[in-house]
Amino acid sequence: MSSSIFRDDLLQGQVALVTGGGTGIGAQIARELANLGATVVIASRKAANVEPAALSLDRECRGQVVAMTLDIRDRERVAQVVQDILGRFGRLDVLVNNGGGQFLAPAETITPRGFDAVVGTNLTGTWNLTRAVADAWMLANGGRVVNITMLSRRGFTGMAHSVAARSGVESMTRTLAVEWASRGIRLNCVAPGYVASSGLSRYPKELGVLERLQSLVPAKRLARREEIAWLVAYLASPAGEYVTGETWTVDGGASLWGDLWPIPDPPGLGAAEPELDPWET
Ligand SMILES: NC(=O)c1ccc[n+]([C@@H]2O[C@H](COP(=O)([O-])OP(=O)(O)OC[C@H]3O[C@@H](n4cnc5c(N)ncnc54)[C@H](OP(=O)(O)O)[C@@H]3O)[C@@H](O)[C@H]2O)c1
Repeated sequence: MSSSIFRDDLLQGQVALVTGGGTGIGAQIARELANLGATVVIASRKAANVEPAALSLDRECRGQVVAMTLDIRDRERVAQVVQDILGRFGRLDVLVNNGGGQFLAPAETITPRGFDAVVGTNLTGTWNLTRAVADAWMLANGGRVVNITMLSRRGFTGMAHSVAARSGVESMTRTLAVEWASRGIRLNCVAPGYVASSGLSRYPKELGVLERLQSLVPAKRLARREEIAWLVAYLASPAGEYVTGETWTVDGGASLWGDLWPIPDPPGLGAAEPELDPWET
């Protein structure tokens, strides 16, 4: 298949690693990059996620798609996967840190273990991959890193652990963009709003999460996975050659409006009384 936006051979000869590339947004990013001619390695913990996805995407796309199993928290395995990719394909031009996740929980219910698990995956996992790829290839040869984060400008109620981790990723991205600019490495974040993908389909239907989220977006619809993948392809391509250290929000205006977490009024909340000086009465 061809990309509906970009030229077919835009990433011909390039090699990309997409973590969490067997499901949802990651699978669509893998599809877009492979349709632009890249060889794409998709990697996550469960072979049951990445193997069928790689088989299917490899048949469907212009570029080759292969699966590897990987827990992004396991530094030894991360280094091994990067070496396997370099041994097999000889280069590693694009890293997409998409693998991650969290659970919705009011802050007072998050346990120390839950907090550590979410930060360990989303922040430390992103660092593990970025350092391993930089050390083994990009510091010497250049490359592009795209980190998938989340809306964080107003914090993210119900996800204190994840938004802390993602803000850390965004700040780390700005820092590395400067430290590694002269090494030819560009790093950016893409912060999706609410995407109609596997991540959201995990919430029980009876909670009505999809309907509620849709009404919170000024555009009155969720994002399609392609709308995230197109921006990743742009940033991975020469079109983004002078763009680094930025967080790109793709949310249909959601972060500018809407209350995800209504705050109940305290009992007896009366009307506000303006405070006036005597000469103002
Ligand atoms: N959907 C949205 O509205 C939305 C909005 C903002 C941000 N995001 C973020 O975008 C990314 C993709 O989301 P999605 O909607 O496509 O959900 P998803 O299907 O749940 O994607 C998460 C992917 O990450 C992989 N993963 C999780 N922990 C991992 C680990 N320790 N090591 C390696 N891989 C791991 C999972 O595969 P395995 O289980 O096989 O490891 C899965 O493929 C996530 O980081 C998500 O938080 C999503």
